[in-house]
Amino acid sequence: MRVLTIGGGGREHAAVEALYRCGAEIYAVMKNMNPGIIKRSKKYKIIEETKVGEVCAYAKNVGAELAYIGPEAPLEAGLSDSLEKMGVLCAAPTKAAARIETSKLFMRELINKHNIAGNVGYASFDNPEDAKRYVDGIECEVVVKPVGLTGGKGVKVQGEHLHSVRDVSRYIDEVFNASIGKAGIIIEEKVSGEEFTQMAFCDGKHIEPMPLVQDHKRAYENDIGPNTGGMGSYSDSDHLLPFVKESDRVAAFNIVRDVVSAMNKDSCQYCGPIYGQFMLTPNGPKIIEFNARFGDPEAMNVLSILESDFADICYRMATGTLTKAVKFERKASVCKYVVPEGYGTKPVSGKEIFVDEEGIKRANATLYYANVNQDNGRLLTGTSRSLGIVGIADTIDMAEENCENALKFVRSKHIFVRHDIGRRNLIRNHVEHLQKLCLGQNEKSSS
Ligand code: AMP
Ligand code: GLY
Repeated sequence: MRVLTIGGGGREHAAVEALYRCGAEIYAVMKNMNPGIIKRSKKYKIIEETKVGEVCAYAKNVGAELAYIGPEAPLEAGLSDSLEKMGVLCAAPTKAAARIETSKLFMRELINKHNIAGNVGYASFDNPEDAKRYVDGIECEVVVKPVGLTGGKGVKVQGEHLHSVRDVSRYIDEVFNASIGKAGIIIEEKVSGEEFTQMAFCDGKHIEPMPLVQDHKRAYENDIGPNTGGMGSYSDSDHLLPFVKESDRVAAFNIVRDVVSAMNKDSCQYCGPIYGQFMLTPNGPKIIEFNARFGDPEAMNVLSILESDFADICYRMATGTLTKAVKFERKASVCKYVVPEGYGTKPVSGKEIFVDEEGIKRANATLYYANVNQDNGRLLTGTSRSLGIVGIADTIDMAEENCENALKFVRSKHIFVRHDIGRRNLIRNHVEHLQKLCLGQNEKSSS
């Protein structure tokens, strides 16, 4: 099958490898020269991924039958609607259905309207004065979110990034003055717990779960610093996480399922991978965000252990025929992103990185190229994450060790990595943090 892939990041390289493994003929469109995607493609073209007309013309030119769209920006630009119109099947949501991600307000209102579990307190504003007045009048700590897309970097949490009500007010002004996200602001109640990702494949009606993953959005070790697109992630061989019980997984999966059926009821059918980000609290999983695509880096964890045929899954998502169970290996995975110096604040691009692909293979790990470029045989950093290294093994410890051994084969003075991801200490901290919150809750309810 001739598959058009859109996007040039680590998530897309992982998707391309999964398609290539099952014999798909790949035609790639991306805005950067990702050498991993180029290697697996029959043809490729460097195009801005949101230029719908140009991408469609390329799809026609290569005779694409099916499209896989990685990032959210082309979904918001209506790429899947236009591809479908010209007869290319799309394993991705329409512009309207992608609002589950592209409008944080659409998402919260849908959950509210359909009484779906896991919502948090929120209020939305189209001007800074009302937003600031609201914050002055409430007791709880808040999270300030631009309503529209910000590449994962627009959310600020009180107590972490905003240290006083004055900081909150200042950030509200900044969002409006700089038009961050371009669609107003949402103020959410801050919930405490441990975060995890439940992704699923969806054909409009049926959904098939993927293994749980924990991403790490803060830029620096020990989960501090600005929010990023995600610095790395791990998954476990039982497809749960060390702090998530089966009953919590089921609760989160049911929320994803309820969202899909609510969209159906509202005549806004959702097809494609869907992503639920949850905070596990003593009162069960609470919804942090939904994405209309695979998570990045989470896609690198799950697609690396996907046993079923990915091209077939994409075809089935696009045609409403996802009726077979999707299988994953019972393996643990640890993914660490190599990012450019300054990532999270002021990334430095155009710096050379040296990668020994054979060394990484010998270390028993997988390399996914991301936001890099090739220039006269040199590999250069872009402004986003450069490459992901994934260790796969029977345990998280072993997967982490493989990942670290492989990282020795990536060299540059202008990169950094969160080495703590997937390590015992950090995981233990997460488990203990949740236990402490549950204990506090029990003490409160018995007193
Ligand atoms: P988002 O881009 O919405 O996923 O937010 C980025 C990060 O901010 C999340 O991964 C959480 O760590 C944090 N966050 C977002 N919403 C909330 C919330 N309501 N309560 C606590 N933390 C949150
Ligand atoms: N890993 C978070 C995201 O893909 O938005």
